[in-house]
Amino acid sequence: MPDQGLRELFIDELKDLYNAENQLVKALPKMAKASESAELKAGFEEHLEQTKVHVERLESIFSKLGGSPKGKKCKGMEGLVEEGAEAIGEYEGAVRDAALIGGAQRVEHYEIAGYGTVIAMAIQLGESGHARLLEQTLEEEKQTDAKLTSLSEKVNPKAASMNARNKGTERSKRKTASHHAA
Ligand SMILES: [Fe+2]
Repeated sequence: MPDQGLRELFIDELKDLYNAENQLVKALPKMAKASESAELKAGFEEHLEQTKVHVERLESIFSKLGGSPKGKKCKGMEGLVEEGAEAIGEYEGAVRDAALIGGAQRVEHYEIAGYGTVIAMAIQLGESGHARLLEQTLEEEKQTDAKLTSLSEKVNPKAASMNARNKGTERSKRKTASHHAA
């Protein structure tokens, strides 16, 4: 079969996305909890519900393809989630919100790339039904990214006007030291 290689790759990429989405289902409640802005918190909670639907869409594609969606670890998403968790530990208040938005937008862009890839493959393989389903998810990831951009326009001015009271980092130690010296 001439398209055998691409079909295998398509399935592999879908498994990767399935694992990535499931990692997000676990990470988003933590991101919501860490948000100071009520709007950001609500945004993460809303995206959690969307993400659960993204998981279901992938499950429905796999049920038609006749295989299990499990068996792959998305290391890219693992790294992005880890970096996001570091930001939660290092910053507070509006600055932490700004860091959370930055982390979440990296996640969205990563997913947008992933879905764009599988949609192109689905079309090439003549799987237009799967392509349409994946396009719905892609559209939601893009909308989430745009919402995060507009939220950053509210959060960044707040972050700029506060002191980053980030405990334990070199920068805050230096700031504290110079404050006491003054
Ligand atoms: Fe998603």
